[in-house]
Amino acid sequence: MDPYKYRPSSAFDSPFWTTNSGAPVWNNNSSLTVGSRGPILLEDYHLVEKIANFDRERIPERVVHARGASAKGFFEVTHDISQLTCADFLRAPGVQTPVIVRFSTVIHERGSPETLRDPRGFAVKFYTREGNFDLVGNNFPVFFVRDGMKFPDMVHALKPNPKSHIQEPWRILDFFSHHPESLHMFTFLFDDLGVPQDYRHMEGSGVNTYTLINKAGKAQYVKFHWKPTCGVKCLLEDEAIKVGGANHSHATKDLYDSIAAGNYPEWKLYIQTIDPDHEDRFDFDPLDVTKTWPEDILPLQPVGRLVLNKNIDNFFAENEQLAFCPAIVVPGVYYSDDKLLQTRIFSYSDTQRHRLGPNYLQLPVNAPKCSHHNNHHEGFMNFMHRDEEVNYFPSRYDPVRNAERFPIPPNILSGKREKCIIEKENNFKQPGERYRSWAPDRQERFICRWVDALSDPRVTHEIRSIWISYWSQADKSLGQKLASRLNVRPSI
Ligand code: HEM
Repeated sequence: MDPYKYRPSSAFDSPFWTTNSGAPVWNNNSSLTVGSRGPILLEDYHLVEKIANFDRERIPERVVHARGASAKGFFEVTHDISQLTCADFLRAPGVQTPVIVRFSTVIHERGSPETLRDPRGFAVKFYTREGNFDLVGNNFPVFFVRDGMKFPDMVHALKPNPKSHIQEPWRILDFFSHHPESLHMFTFLFDDLGVPQDYRHMEGSGVNTYTLINKAGKAQYVKFHWKPTCGVKCLLEDEAIKVGGANHSHATKDLYDSIAAGNYPEWKLYIQTIDPDHEDRFDFDPLDVTKTWPEDILPLQPVGRLVLNKNIDNFFAENEQLAFCPAIVVPGVYYSDDKLLQTRIFSYSDTQRHRLGPNYLQLPVNAPKCSHHNNHHEGFMNFMHRDEEVNYFPSRYDPVRNAERFPIPPNILSGKREKCIIEKENNFKQPGERYRSWAPDRQERFICRWVDALSDPRVTHEIRSIWISYWSQADKSLGQKLASRLNVRPSI
């Protein structure tokens, strides 16, 4: 990426101030007035332009993941997986691809503290030779709900109360009391992992199931996982209060400072795969985003490494205007029928068109670095210079043709129209196993966080009982402990 290429030629070469249209400005200190103390003249064009520009400096913040930090670097293949995918950027060990990564918190505003209990976004844009690939993941490997229909309500419940603008546990616990599939996600969010120490010391995951396809057209379901080479570290409550109190941008600063000091953060990329022909072999649905794939039967396979070795030059251009979309994939990587992923395929480019405008993919940080061509043109803020006379397809005057066909999943789709939940819900097994895998002190902190949340005076007896029933179904002793501390009789 060469940001200088996109600089207006006059921007930094001029020895004196100019207007946006390049005319010299002879006084950038005082407004043009009638006499020394008179009213300002509207004809002070430079003043009007300066103020008007300032008035429009902010664009809408992301509806979720508004708070974030980004950095650039490269992805390098370390292990050959060309038998699984024809993706060009994964073609052989040693191949490097430039990337930009954006880490984020989810719920609160652009300037909110980075020490809040919240999932973290981990979004990677690979600028490959075959177009961009956006792997838009989180730090936890599962998600709260499995159908995109629930996403806006879920976000509303997690966001501040629309009346008080305060995030309130009773609203969260009310909403999720209807969704036992969220239990697994809560074993991450209410665990010590709920507040990562910073962005360098956390894992990442593609979360949704994607598909890898090789040249012969053979498809494999795949999950992507990032593991930091410097280990995972978290903040406990007291530490988080201290760190966040001293600097509400501590994670952004940590990332920036560590790259500036040459201490480049690095993650290893692993995949897990399932042959779609075997998808019925498990007690969970591999396309259910509330489930992890057990590593003992579906081992992590190493693929490559991600190194962040360059700070961004400009926060607005390379963070605020950075736009990800899970629909942006390359040949050799495809979606799966994971319902949540299917909704995400629509949502992101839709929000970008609202947040950044219809030509957001022309912005330097979002544009592919390979050659690209189509007739989707014009619209607001189109700044691509074009001089061709044929802007339709097909044409005998324009030699550009369809690209070579690349493989997509070969499975035959059939079925009647339905709105339904997945068959194998299995909501309680994995959360229970996860809880039991922890040492007693970690279990105790998890229980304390739940007692705390369920003690919100606006949480009703009914909601409290539902949660105790859910946790009892995940782990009997966990349910009993919560019931006794909250003075509620478990009723399964
Ligand atoms: C149907 C479910 C989902 C919907 C509708 C949805 C929608 C959105 C929207 C509208 C944004 C704001 C994008 C922007 O303005 O740039 C966003 C950001 C984001 N979402 Fe989702 N999301 C969903 C599920 C998920 C899941 C499961 C993950 C994790 C795998 C995830 C990870 C992210 C990340 C990391 C960002 C921030 C990207 C950035 O740094 O710019 N989302 N999501």
